[in-house]
Amino acid sequence: MKIFLDTADLDQIRRAADANLIDGITTNPSLMMQAAGQRDPREIFLEICKTVDGPVSAEVIAIDKNNMLAEGRRLAKIHDNIVVKVPLTEDGLRACRGLRSEGIRVNVTLCFSVTQAHLAAKAGASFISPFVGRVDDISGEGMDLIGQIRQVYDNYAFETEILVASIRHPQHVVQSLLLGADCATMPPKVLYQLLKHPLTDLGLSAFLADWEKLGKEL
Ligand code: G3P
Repeated sequence: MKIFLDTADLDQIRRAADANLIDGITTNPSLMMQAAGQRDPREIFLEICKTVDGPVSAEVIAIDKNNMLAEGRRLAKIHDNIVVKVPLTEDGLRACRGLRSEGIRVNVTLCFSVTQAHLAAKAGASFISPFVGRVDDISGEGMDLIGQIRQVYDNYAFETEILVASIRHPQHVVQSLLLGADCATMPPKVLYQLLKHPLTDLGLSAFLADWEKLGKEL
């Protein structure tokens, strides 16, 4: 499963990319608002693309098809790694078809149902982003959505990749792996939670303490 970092924070992106922990980046307007400050968002997208060798999702802010198409084309020109993110609306799906017909990759975002995911796949989406954490937030079962979309995409051999989004904790990642999701995008905090285990830290401390007693070098 591909691991994407859900952030526009360049320090975090550099750290994870240097460690080869990530396969791509997802951003959204809220994440750009947190990271951009006075900078031009296009500069940030370009810098992210130069840092990470993989898909970098950049979201349109227009809500009508023609302006989504225009924004999507401009975003795609920034770098080959850019994947244009459009919302799962009627116009978003129309823009998705248009951009895909021009060879531009599209991530359809804000997906909360199997029927939405089905329509996005029929519109040629490269990625579908179901927001599991936000489903959990309203007392739903976000991960049920992933299992159902996996089944539908397999039933009809859709090539759209399932990109699990709005991940809040490592169990979302474990479930994504078990359900056969193609990608999971997560905040930096969750990425490093995947790596850490208290028994690893305890075991390492004990090994180092014993080696110290030996008093030898390697
Ligand atoms: O980038 C989309 C998604 O991952 C947002 O997550 O935590 O704002 O629901 P969250």
